Order: sequence, then structure tokens, then C-alpha cells
Amino acid sequence: MTRRSWLTGAAAAGGASLLGACASAPGDIRIGFLVKQPQEQWFQDEWRFARAAARRHGFSLIAIGAEDGDRVLSALNTLYARFAQGFIICAPDPRLGPAIAGFAADTGLKAMSVDDRLTGADGLPIAGIPHVGISARKIGALAGAAAAAEAKRRGWPIGETGILRISFDSLETGRERLLGAVEALQAAGYPASAIFSAPQRTTDTEGAFSAASPVLTARAGIDRWIILGLNDETVVGGVRAAEGLSMAAANIIGVGIGGSEVAIADLAKPRPTGFYASVLLSPRRHGYDTALAMYEWVGDGRRPPPLTLTSGTVITRDTYRDLLAREAAA
Ligand code: GLA
Repeated sequence: MTRRSWLTGAAAAGGASLLGACASAPGDIRIGFLVKQPQEQWFQDEWRFARAAARRHGFSLIAIGAEDGDRVLSALNTLYARFAQGFIICAPDPRLGPAIAGFAADTGLKAMSVDDRLTGADGLPIAGIPHVGISARKIGALAGAAAAAEAKRRGWPIGETGILRISFDSLETGRERLLGAVEALQAAGYPASAIFSAPQRTTDTEGAFSAASPVLTARAGIDRWIILGLNDETVVGGVRAAEGLSMAAANIIGVGIGGSEVAIADLAKPRPTGFYASVLLSPRRHGYDTALAMYEWVGDGRRPPPLTLTSGTVITRDTYRDLLAREAAA
């Protein structure tokens, strides 16, 4: 598409005044950072680190929340109208891949994805868009293994324990995280029949709570639950649903993924809750490093590696303080 047709879109999306103000492209480097759930702590942390990179290296960061496909398209138009040269995106739906790749190709803006990998029309990852994500299956396995170890420590009989798998299988990273978790539990001796899936419609606490409640209610005969999901919000939602059904914290082992504020809030409570642990990820690598990589790509043509997968560390009530301090100092 030509610059003109994107400009028309931008004007329609409300960018007209900006266009009037900037007759020619400014000299500085401008990078967009679009996230699917701006209210989620993880994405706030990514933005915080991306802004730190912008301050340190002297570029502009344009952070935009884009919670559905329409908002992604209008955000891209805004970036174009504001003369951004590249953007990083965690899209609300990976199937927006062809539209996003098409926009990048037509406008010459450089595109990178973070967290959720974009897929093409064939359903496969778009290899031409550099991606930074977590090593989902390994991180899921850490969560599953931590849950199995804690259940063993508490002396829970395998035959009397349920595994609540709160799932968001349309997202590859979500599917892989849960796959890794379930594999680790099966390796610890849990049978497939102990696993109950609760598909969530949204990956926040509310979506998980609504998904978990009916499944737990239907299995009221099971007294002990391991609760897993793709992020901390999800597992907190599952744990709150179990607690809402009068289950004692001692009978719940929730293990989240993220290690952000929502996990820490539970781990820091004076009395243990059913939220036992999380896998601490690095928003610095997903926010600071991606923004810097885009800056270097725009500035000196150094293309980021096609795929970067980051790792995680299990944190519990006992270890989170030290591990967070270590992460902050890194
Ligand atoms: C996905 C999840 C987020 C977060 C990131 C981390 O986007 O929806 O909650 O876990 O992955 O990469």
C-alpha cells in the first residue's frame, strides 16, 4: 500500500491533526510498542522497560494498547502518521499476522513480535518477523514440576488429586506452557484421567475464575487441586474460584507463570494462599531488549535474530525476595 492510502486510514482513525502538524518526517528514531492487554501487569512492565531503553539510548517510544483487530489497525495507522520507523507487537490475536506483515511490507516499517508469535494464512509462525517469546514448554514444565514436588511434600495421594488445567489453547505459547506442565506432572506419576481442562475465554483473572468454577463444582468429590494456567492472572483466578468453593489453601497448589505483581501480592500475604508459586520471567528482556533491538535495526540495519526464547525461574513465598532482588540487580 502507498503512503497515501495509509494516511487516509490514519485520518479516519483520528490521526488527522498529527498529520497537519508534521509536514515532513522528524530526524529522531520512533518506535511503536503495541500490546494486547495494556492493563495486565506483564505488559505494563514491558512498557516500563522499553521506555527505559528509549531514555537511555535516545529514541522515542510510542506505547499503544490494542485489544482487538480494529485497534491494531488504527494503532498501526497512528504509528505511520507519527513517522515511526518500526514497531514491536504482542497482538490480541496471532491470526492478525498477515495484516500486520502486509502493513510492514507496504509502509517499510520494521516489525517484531513479542510474547505471542504471529501466524500466517497457513497457521504457521511468520518466519520473516523476528520474535522474542518465552521458552514456553520448558517454563510450563518448571511450573508442573514445582506443583508435583509440593504435592509430594504435602503427602497428597496421587489418586486423590485433581489437576485443573485452565487453558487458552488457541494461543501457541499458552498451549505449549500447559503441555510442558502436564508432561511434568505425568512424569511425576499423575494419570491423564486426573487432568480436567477449563477453557478460558480471556486470559485474565476474571476469565479464569469463570472457567474454573463450573469445573471445580462438577468435581466436588476431589478435595485437593493443582491449578495451572498460562499466566499468573489465570492461576490466581483458578485459586480464587477454589477458595470461593470453601476449599482450604492447604488443599490447593496453584503455580502461575510471570512472577509479576499479581503473583507477588499472593506470595507476600502473611498467611499462605492457594497460590503456591510462579515462574519468574524477564519483562526486561521482553521490553528493554526488544526496544533496543528495534532501535538498532532501524538505526544501523542490524536485523534481530529470527527467534529468541527467554527462560524462567521458580519463585515461592520462601525464595521470591532474593530472586527478585537478583533480577533487579542484573
Ligand atoms: C502471553 C500471555 C501473557 C504473558 C506473556 C509472556 O502473552 O498472555 O500473560 O504471560 O505471554 O510472554
